[in-house]
Amino acid sequence: MRDWFTMEEIDESVQAILTRTKIRPQVGIILGSGLGGLADAVENPDSISFGEIPYWVSSTVQGHVGRIVLGQLERKSVLVMQGRIHYYEGYTMQQVTLPIRVMQRMGVSHLVVTNAAGAIHPDYRPGDVMLISDHINLMGMNGLNPLRGPNLDAFGERFPDMSQAYDRELLRLARQVADENGIAVREGVYVGLSGPSFETPADLRFLRAIGADAVGMSTVPEVTVAVHGKTRVLGISGISNAANLDGSTITTHEEVLESGKILVPKMTAIIRGVLAKL
Ligand code: HPA
Repeated sequence: MRDWFTMEEIDESVQAILTRTKIRPQVGIILGSGLGGLADAVENPDSISFGEIPYWVSSTVQGHVGRIVLGQLERKSVLVMQGRIHYYEGYTMQQVTLPIRVMQRMGVSHLVVTNAAGAIHPDYRPGDVMLISDHINLMGMNGLNPLRGPNLDAFGERFPDMSQAYDRELLRLARQVADENGIAVREGVYVGLSGPSFETPADLRFLRAIGADAVGMSTVPEVTVAVHGKTRVLGISGISNAANLDGSTITTHEEVLESGKILVPKMTAIIRGVLAKL
């Protein structure tokens, strides 16, 4: 059985969405665990459940609503994913990243990806916002790359450059908006793991040693596909739990969702501010 989608299948998903909304989105926004609240700010929203779109799978994770919301935010046409799909739910990397292909076919030129992440950097605290400067594709290095399979040349080349996966100009804008709003932000490297188990203290010490500042179970596949298709990416991590490099505390999904309450207002302000400046 093939894992990948053909252009015809991607376009079937696109058509299903186009028949349900007049919005033609310029910006895609993916809301991570506990961060779904921003979708409520979308004006004149058209909502479509993941299950109503051909080939889209549902999000099975608590804290992920599982629908797309199309509308206006800061006078930009947006497609917001309220909830995302993760590899650990049992889906393929291509199922996880199909929404990015659909966004690209719909004309989305910019993607804002958010996630909840665990701190690895010793100075990071729950409630901190980290702008993602780069990522470590640990899942991809193990063979779980969503671009595996025939290359769809209409999106990009077989061996895409990843030297500036996170757009420098968007990073600059996000830093500027944070500054203007008095929001302190970190800037660092996100490492993506497959999950769903959290890391052992030894895992975390290893991740620190290889240069990661925050760890999570998403984002890297979506960003890889976005970059392949020339979509400009802004990545923002909400730090939801402390580093546990010595094994002295435990990590829970409830903790991850709880810190979303502190993070949502800050991340919302940054995303809105960046959209307003685009
Ligand atoms: N590890 C991995 N993924 C996560 C974490 C974590 O500590 N927190 C939120 N997502």
